Amino acid sequence: MQLGLKPEIKPVAAVILAAGKGTRMHSKLPKVMHKVCGRPLLTYVLEAVKKAGVEKIVVVVGFGAEQVVPVAKTYGEIIYQEQQLGTAHALLQTEKVLAEFSGDILVLGGDTPLITSTTLVRLIETHQGQLPVTNGQERVCSFPVVSHFSPSPAKTVATVLTAKLAEPAGYGRIIRNSAQQVVKIIEQKDASPAELAVQEINSGIYCFVAGGLFETLAGLTVENAAQEYYLPDVIEAYVRQGLPVATCLAENEKEIQGINDRGQLAAVEEIVRQRVRNEIMLSGVTILDPPSAFIDLEVKIEPDTVIYPFTIIEGACRIGANCIIGPGTRLKSVQVGDNVVISNSVVMESTIGDSCTIGPFAYLRPGTRLARKVKVGDFVEVKQSVIEEGSKIPHLSYVGDTHIGQEVNVGAGTITCNYDGQKKWLTVIEDKVFIGSNTNLVAPVRIGAGAFIGAGSTITKNVPPAALGIARGGQRNIVNWTKKKKQIKEED
Ligand code: UD1
Ligand code: CA
Repeated sequence: MQLGLKPEIKPVAAVILAAGKGTRMHSKLPKVMHKVCGRPLLTYVLEAVKKAGVEKIVVVVGFGAEQVVPVAKTYGEIIYQEQQLGTAHALLQTEKVLAEFSGDILVLGGDTPLITSTTLVRLIETHQGQLPVTNGQERVCSFPVVSHFSPSPAKTVATVLTAKLAEPAGYGRIIRNSAQQVVKIIEQKDASPAELAVQEINSGIYCFVAGGLFETLAGLTVENAAQEYYLPDVIEAYVRQGLPVATCLAENEKEIQGINDRGQLAAVEEIVRQRVRNEIMLSGVTILDPPSAFIDLEVKIEPDTVIYPFTIIEGACRIGANCIIGPGTRLKSVQVGDNVVISNSVVMESTIGDSCTIGPFAYLRPGTRLARKVKVGDFVEVKQSVIEEGSKIPHLSYVGDTHIGQEVNVGAGTITCNYDGQKKWLTVIEDKVFIGSNTNLVAPVRIGAGAFIGAGSTITKNVPPAALGIARGGQRNIVNWTKKKKQIKEED
């Protein structure tokens, strides 16, 4: 379906090159799977391409394919590049699925996550001659169209998305002749000092006429510093054949930033993170110190929630209205209701009902489910447990593999002993139980509704409803013991 493209635009297939290792990342993870604000780089590119409304998407995978394919296959067809011999070689692998395709082929790397569908549509429209042009060498593809282009007599066979960068290091440079016509693209590694001074760079995003492309790719050689088949060499090959090529200058050069190393990853992360925060604030959430709030792209927060400084909200978190989150808090894949307070705490893969209070200094591990009005206070760890409405674990406790009913009070220092060294066992605490401080509940164990556990007990057997369970040495007082002790010392 054509979404972003005008109906008069010829069919476009998009090829995303995502087979490279990303050597400069020094990582076991394929580069395109590194994340920005919780989302793989490749997903950003795929989303932009999908939004542009192309007919067909093909993703070239290779290094770490088993990690890339699950993301890529929901968007399009997968093609394997067994050996990563360069970007031209990667595109050549798609011949088997695109040989019959008669439209244009949009090609981009999976490592340019800031590219927008608007720019892709402009590139395609420029390539297909849909945009108004004036005299000069370039068509400018971002709105408004401000540039100059000398229309070619024949149809443009390739259009390169370019950018002008104050610091072009690392990118391929666009080399023009004295008439300002593009003659080739030279890679950083192969460039002369004069070529390195060129500030116009190749974004790695191109639109090609399908006809003749694969034949030209097959004719390229590896006579270059990297000994790789360079896709940008197609431009020189076309120019040599006298075929018209065009460039399209991206108005916002930030969009074409390619990620090759961790520094560039961090720079892009900062841009996207700022964008995410701005959107969240515009939707009615207060962020007291925006630079210290790290919020992933998938996070949804309802209005009138306040995010205190040094807070990290990761994964598909949903946070309700009127909450106070932070300071110093990390939430990962957590569902939070309305009117919840979470301070200085870590909460992972858990659900928190309305009006709960968490922390300061609580640790809620995966599988924790709190109903409404639950309090988990300071220095409390909860794991894989359900705590029903109105119950409280105010201080210094470990609760694991436990079901706690409603209106239970768990005294300070209570520990569920859920692990016998081999297996994990369940603890059940029914409604309205009172657990005295410093209690050990040795699982499997059940405390019946309304029971009362004496402080300092080690409970190893079930306690019936409404009973007092107590299990500790009886108290003995030895009168005048300290005075006698003092006397003995003085006599020494
Ligand atoms: C490439 C361009 C450069 C441009 C820059 C823009 C080449 C030779 N150079 O350089 O002119 O300025 O992008 O960001 O194309 N890939 C494969 N198979 C391979 C090699 C790479 O699929 O055999 C994929 C990578 O996974 C990556 C993309 O192609 O997504 C680009 O490869 P990369 O190595 O990052 O190219 P650059 O050196 O950045
Ligand atoms: Ca790159």
